[in-house]
Amino acid sequence: MKIAVLPGDGIGTEIVAEALKVLNVLDLPFELETALVGGAAFDAHGHPLPDATLQLAKDADAVLFGAVGDWKYDTLDRPLRPEQAILGLRKHLGLFANFRPAICYPQLTDASSLKPELVAGLDILIIRELTGDIYFGQPRGRRIATDGHFPGAEEAFDTMRYSRPEIERIAHVAFQAARKRGSRVTSVDKANVLETFQFWKDVMIDVHADYPDVALDHMYVDNAAMQLVKAPKKFDVLVTGNMFGDILSDAAAMLTGSIGMLPSASLDKNNKGLYEPSHGSAPDIAGKGIANPLATILSAAMMLKFSLNQPEAAARIEAAVSAVLSQGLRTADIWSEGTQRVGTSAMGDAVVAALTASNTTLKS
Ligand code: IPM
Ligand code: MG
Repeated sequence: MKIAVLPGDGIGTEIVAEALKVLNVLDLPFELETALVGGAAFDAHGHPLPDATLQLAKDADAVLFGAVGDWKYDTLDRPLRPEQAILGLRKHLGLFANFRPAICYPQLTDASSLKPELVAGLDILIIRELTGDIYFGQPRGRRIATDGHFPGAEEAFDTMRYSRPEIERIAHVAFQAARKRGSRVTSVDKANVLETFQFWKDVMIDVHADYPDVALDHMYVDNAAMQLVKAPKKFDVLVTGNMFGDILSDAAAMLTGSIGMLPSASLDKNNKGLYEPSHGSAPDIAGKGIANPLATILSAAMMLKFSLNQPEAAARIEAAVSAVLSQGLRTADIWSEGTQRVGTSAMGDAVVAALTASNTTLKS
């Protein structure tokens, strides 16, 4: 099982280190290879996604990714900015299906900004299309001003676009995922305004004909944002486009207490995948040892389940995370009165300890 490890920037290196501790204690034959990505790769090689890093990711069975980005790169030309690394990996690896589960651990109901009764027992799954939409529509750019420079530009544009096959394949992913849970799919669109999303809705309805056992409803994205904070437990699976999914998944993350708890999987058509926390590189807290590593550790669990066919190891990691929360250990983002504040590395160590305690087949 070859895993490409791409820690990236900011807190990326700190949180990935904790996930590696957890993987290393499992008695499984991993081959781990680390490479630079994002701003770190730009600094070393002049490009956020060097060919060697992309090749490593292509050759691996799965990619474990931290986070990329730092304000100091904001003035670079867009193709050289750290974010292009993750967008490039998604595109080049064909990772069109992004799973962002939002699960509220019972131990964290108080950490949510919503009332406990609204989020207790929450278990929803956002499926975000990841390689199309306005993120990748052509053409895009700024009209160059007469002086030949962007700063004087009067206009900028991006193109929202989806093809039928792109919508069909994410629809199949959503309906199949729903079958394994509550058998309900809410397709989120903006069909009242945008042609792209009227088409999205039409294709969802077409594909739904293959899944009579799954319920499908449709919701405008603005209403979906409202319902997510009003009555999030009403949802089972939400499926939506790239940009709406980006926004809604951040909102959903906060229901769980902290975006530091939200893992993600980005899969290709063969379930090869890239696994990353849903949060970013958080340069403001980088190097302080206070970031929450649990989203990355839970992403590693998703990797074991979806790409490496190790569902039992995945379940053990998830149980260890739950055990650590039950012990009252909390990083700053999920801390509340009466719990014990710990740093990034102590949190990783605690998960390792819970794993070791729980299973005799683990390495000592
Ligand atoms: C995410 C991030 C990325 C996105 C950025 C870093 C390009 O916000 O994974 O949600 O917009 O997809
Ligand atoms: Mg985002």
